[in-house]
Amino acid sequence: MKRALLHYLTCPRDGESLELDVLDESSAEIKTGRLSCASGHVYPIERYIPRFVETAGYAQTFSAQREYVRRHFRSYQKDRSGDELFYATTGWSREALLRGPCLEIGCGYGRFVDVVEREGAEIIGVDLSTQSIELAHSFVGMRPRVHLIQADLFQLPLKREMFGSVYSIGALHHTPDCKAAFESLPPYLADGGQIAIWVYHPSNQNNVVAWRRRTTKWSSTRLYAWCIFNQTAFGWIRRLPWLRWRFNAFVPGAVPRRGQSFWLRVMEDFDNLSPKYASSHSEDEVLGWFKQAGLANIQRLARRTSVAGCRSTEPTFDGAHRECARSASPAGSGPPSDTADLVL
Ligand SMILES: C[S@@+](CC[C@H](N)C(=O)[O-])C[C@H]1O[C@@H](n2cnc3c(N)ncnc32)[C@H](O)[C@@H]1O
Repeated sequence: MKRALLHYLTCPRDGESLELDVLDESSAEIKTGRLSCASGHVYPIERYIPRFVETAGYAQTFSAQREYVRRHFRSYQKDRSGDELFYATTGWSREALLRGPCLEIGCGYGRFVDVVEREGAEIIGVDLSTQSIELAHSFVGMRPRVHLIQADLFQLPLKREMFGSVYSIGALHHTPDCKAAFESLPPYLADGGQIAIWVYHPSNQNNVVAWRRRTTKWSSTRLYAWCIFNQTAFGWIRRLPWLRWRFNAFVPGAVPRRGQSFWLRVMEDFDNLSPKYASSHSEDEVLGWFKQAGLANIQRLARRTSVAGCRSTEPTFDGAHRECARSASPAGSGPPSDTADLVL
């Protein structure tokens, strides 16, 4: 943890400010220490990461998955699809990212933290799962503009109205209540700040839901073995355009994409079949959440079920909300549409 992170932190239980005790620090990174508030709530800093949860809870399935992700991490580091996916999902410009600190909810192993940091922005990545946040730390955690926190999005240890950009790509639908998860985010936006999310669309989930009922009961070893078998035995069928969707209606699996390695496809399938919670939502439903949250400049993005908006509290003379600093590109004008619902 970097000392600069303290500026954004607050006790998740009572909102009080936190005091920092350092036990081990090197190269401007606190490796071990603790954060505490005046009421006596204490949060350890372990292996460079402040921990605001005692266990990963239901996100333990992601921790199991990350063990395998770690095994194939070379393939992940070579994969550059995160850049395109980030912009297709948010529609934001680099300038907009640089306007204020960014917050990613459910950052996983940090592929979008990597994108945002490379653009030059300061970013806080939050994840509930121990292995995910530790993998993110080994990937991007030592970079000067990156901060990582292990916390639950429903009880964030962050001050409100601080962030220029808040986003969550493929994480909110993995909580017990996706709408409530979304609703917890806008309070963290500074005035004029932008927010974008992407969640599963129902049409890509039909047969996966049926499979998931079984596969979530399997051990992670068995599921991993199945994913390897599935891609080895049936990968060739999914290369045939006229057959792939018919076959996938019975046996779901990642369709080979240009430049995507075998192991990334295996892990994509693991990601899709392992989570305890995985809800799906129509675009109108998601647009409704944005409207109910009082957000302005609401837009659908190029990637299906990606929606962006912004927070503006300053009314103009005609009563409408002031234009937020704009950067979102509406669907159709941005990068090519992506119908794959698979996110690691
Ligand atoms: C499918 S992964 C997506 C990771 C990343 N956004 C990406 O696309 O590479 C979903 C992540 O959400 C995290 N997550 C689930 N529930 C969460 C919660 N309540 N608070 C914070 N993170 C959560 C999981 O631990 C997991 O790492």
